[in-house]
Amino acid sequence: MKFLCVAGSLRAASTNRALLHAMTDNAPQGIDLAIYDDLGVLPIFNPDDEGERTPGIVTRLIDAAISADGIVIACPEYAHGVPGGIKNALDWLVSGPAAVGKPAMLVHASSRSLFAREALREILKTMSFAVFDGAELEIPLIGKKPDEWASILADPAHRTIMRETFAAFEAFVRRQ
Ligand SMILES: Cc1cc2nc3c(=O)[nH]c(=O)nc-3n(C[C@H](O)[C@H](O)[C@H](O)COP(=O)(O)O)c2cc1C
Repeated sequence: MKFLCVAGSLRAASTNRALLHAMTDNAPQGIDLAIYDDLGVLPIFNPDDEGERTPGIVTRLIDAAISADGIVIACPEYAHGVPGGIKNALDWLVSGPAAVGKPAMLVHASSRSLFAREALREILKTMSFAVFDGAELEIPLIGKKPDEWASILADPAHRTIMRETFAAFEAFVRRQ
């Protein structure tokens, strides 16, 4: 099973990307996670550039989403909203088949960001993603220094939560 992971932050020291990397390290056998890295270089969505004019980098995003069995998103909140970079990437997926019925799960590196979580769920559902409504994984790294992340993410309790989350999401994906 292949999951495409997207961090909604472009920061070099992003807690959300760190969480996705830790999830990659803790993925059970048989689950392959790829972290999407081109969020910051995607062109701004323009419906005039869809179809034959779709830029190559966008086609690669669409193909990656289509071939994934599920999407995992870790996203910060900016001013009670969804950061522009991830909204832009999602906008490129609205018209095509990539989102339709595609399982998607949110995971969180902050215990706050409640507006963005809700907004993102609404966006994903509107796009026809099958949004995983089970317990969303939350491992707060916000406010911690990068050198503290490793021990938090290596905590056996957190590793167990990561594995349980994968098991629940995998079961959800199989039901779709
Ligand atoms: C411009 C800006 C606006 C923010 N607004 C909010 C907000 O409205 N609510 C919130 O919970 N956090 C807010 N934050 C904090 C970020 O969501 C938080 O630092 C997040 O963990 C950063 O994720 P990252 O480490 O992956 O970059 C804001 C941060 C920035 C830079």
